[in-house]
Formats: sequence, structure tokens, C-alpha cells
Amino acid sequence: MAAYNLAIISGDGIGPEVVAEGKKVLDYLAAAPPGLSFNYTEFPWGSAYYRETGRMMPEDGLEQLRANQAILFGAVGDPDIPDHITLQGLLLPMRRAFDQGVCVRPAYLHPGVTSPLSGKNPGDIDLVIFRENTEGEYAPVGGRLYPGTPHETVIQANVFTRRGAERIIRAAFEHSLPRRRKVTSVTKSNAQAHSMVFWDEVFQAVAADYPQVQTESLLVDRVAMDLVRWPEDFDVMVASNLFADIISDLAAVVTGSMGLAPSANINPEREHPSMFEPVHGAAFDIAGRGIANPLATISAVAMMLHHLGEPNAAAQVETAVTRSLQQRQTLTPDLGGQATTSQVGDEIVRLLGE
Ligand code: NAD
Ligand code: IPM
Ligand code: MN
Repeated sequence: MAAYNLAIISGDGIGPEVVAEGKKVLDYLAAAPPGLSFNYTEFPWGSAYYRETGRMMPEDGLEQLRANQAILFGAVGDPDIPDHITLQGLLLPMRRAFDQGVCVRPAYLHPGVTSPLSGKNPGDIDLVIFRENTEGEYAPVGGRLYPGTPHETVIQANVFTRRGAERIIRAAFEHSLPRRRKVTSVTKSNAQAHSMVFWDEVFQAVAADYPQVQTESLLVDRVAMDLVRWPEDFDVMVASNLFADIISDLAAVVTGSMGLAPSANINPEREHPSMFEPVHGAAFDIAGRGIANPLATISAVAMMLHHLGEPNAAAQVETAVTRSLQQRQTLTPDLGGQATTSQVGDEIVRLLGE
């Protein structure tokens, strides 16, 4: 039987709290029949490591990760270390170096979960964001000239390649085929006359290969509005790195909580490890209290199992998450409950065993 080599980076804040529950689920799947086999390697990287060493990960960190089929990631971020240091030192280099150009972020309104939007029923909101994940507005290209002077000049370049745009847009269309066959492109070509006009062109070219799929192209500000007034209209959405980042939090919260939203950072060519993580961050406001919702991470574990070619195990985990929400017995405070992070993980394991 195949053993999967998994890298685990818990990181900072609530990262270790939620990843512990993801591991609990993996441990259960390893112990129960048919018994999947996982070799974990834990990497103690993040802000504490930075305080000790001056780096978020070792110089050869990416090389150390390469031997793994997948990476389970928690979150990074520290109230006392600038975000651009923590994120540019660990998370974003992984997405780029492992060419994880396809980021998949589903948002579903589960039975048992109340949307902050009135009148929404279970399943009404059922969308998947396809996020370009390696370039766009996140390209670390730019610089600062004459710092601290009245002439101070800062350039942050946007980088859009045909390969990057076409890869994510095509992935979105493929994903829509077994769904409602609707793809929404998120654009801003009224203002960004180079990058987003190009994005629109690539979208149209790829769309021509999928005549059976309904398409629309909406400005990102309009998308923010529609995600609040009629989120049920969206099926698959495709967006650049920054636009997708912003609408991810909106999609997460209209489906109940940041603590429910999983994310897969996929290297579609499978030349490098893919990475699975919750959409949320280190959540300083609740870190250390044992009340973070681990279901986003547990759902990311299900996405990882799909990617590894274990659809049955993935479906079991998804079903356990759905049932736990539906039963409303063991919920963390973000969903109106009083359970701890660890009790939710235990409940998922209990449901897996039923
Ligand atoms: P955040 O996602 O950490 O928190 C936003 C809000 O959602 C907070 O009120 C938080 O309590 C709540 N929340 C998040 N996850 C939750 C969970 N599992 N259960 C219950 N509630 C949850 O976003 P932020 O406050 O903008 O960022 C905090 C730090 O995390 C920053 O340093 C940021 O750069 C970093 N960050 C890291 C990642 C990552 O590592 N992938 C992602 C986003 C933000
Ligand atoms: C996310 C996060 C990251 C992003 C941050 C932490 C750099 O917000 O995964 O959504 O913007 O990609
Ligand atoms: Mn984000």
C-alpha cells in the first residue's frame, strides 16, 4: 500500500491549533480500515523560528519540502513582525517555487449554518473561486527610489503571463463542466487597461473552447456587491491573485465563517508538491484560546486526499464535516457554539467512525 509523504507546517497563531485537528483526522484514517499510510515530516517554521534564526524557514527550506507529495499548512503572521516579512518568507515563496498556479477555494452554505445574509437556505450559495496564485498583483517585482525624501517613488509591478492566465482560466472551465456550467471572470479592465484587458482577452479565447459553458465577465467592484445581494448566481469564479484573495474572505463569511473555508494550492503538472491550507490567517484575536474553528483545515485535508487520489477517504471527511454542521451539537463560537477546537476535531473523528 502506498505511503504518502506529507510535510506539515503549522506556523503561527491559530495555525498549530487547527492543524492539530487536521492531523487527528489523518491519524484516524491511517488507523481505520482500509488504513491509509502517511509519513509526516513536521517543519517548525514560522515567526518563532524567525525570532531564533532571522529567517522564516531555512535557506534550503524549499528543497526540504520537495520530497513530499503534499504540504498541509496552517497560517503565518505575528503581531510584532511585519506581514511582508512573514508572508514573503514562507507562504508566498512556496506557492511560487512549487508553481502552484491553480488555487481552488470552494464556498458552500452548509445545512445547519446560518449565513449573515438573510433568506439564504442550505446549498443556495455553492461557488468555487479559481485564484491565479503565482503572479499578477503578487509578483515581488518593484522597488523604492529615494526613500524618505520628498521624491520617494515606489513601484509595485503587476505581472500577467499568458501561461499563468490561461492555466487558471482553463482550470476554472474544466471545473465547471460537472457543475452548473457557468464561469464568471472577475475583471477590472475599465481601469487596468493593460493587465485586465489582457486577462479579458485570454478569458474570451479559452471560453471559445467551451461553448457549452455560460460565461460572464464582471468588474470586481460589482462582484463584491453581487456576492452580498445574490451570491447564489455564482458557480465557478476565476480571478487574478489579489482580486481572488479579497473575494475569498467575502465568500467565506457569507457562507458562515472564515473558519469553514478551505483552499488548495495546486501544481497541476504535479512536478512539485501542492499545498493545502485554510483560507484564514493567524487570527491573533482568538489565538491561544482553543476556540478556532478547525473545519476549514479539516476540509483542506479532504481536498488534499482528493489530490492524492483517495476520493473515498476525501468523501468520508466531507460527509463528517457536513454532518457535524447539520447536527449543531459541537460547534465553535464563530458558528454560535461553545465547543473547543479540539472537541470539534474529536467530533469529526467520532462521525468518521460511525
Ligand atoms: P484572519 O483570517 O487571521 O482573521 C480574520 C477574522 O476571522 C478574525 O476575526 C478571526 O478571529 C476570524 N477567524 C479566522 N480564522 C478563524 C477560525 N478558524 N475560526 C474562527 N474564527 C476565525 O485575518 P487577519 O486578521 O487579516 O490576519 C491576521 C494575520 O494572519 C496577519 O498577519 C495576516 O497577514 C495573516 N494571514 C495569514 C494567512 C496565511 O498564512 N495563509 C492568511 C490570511 C492572513
Ligand atoms: C490567503 C492569504 C495570503 C494571500 C496572505 C497571507 C499573503 O490572505 O491565502 O488568502 O493574500 O494570499
Ligand atoms: Mn486572504
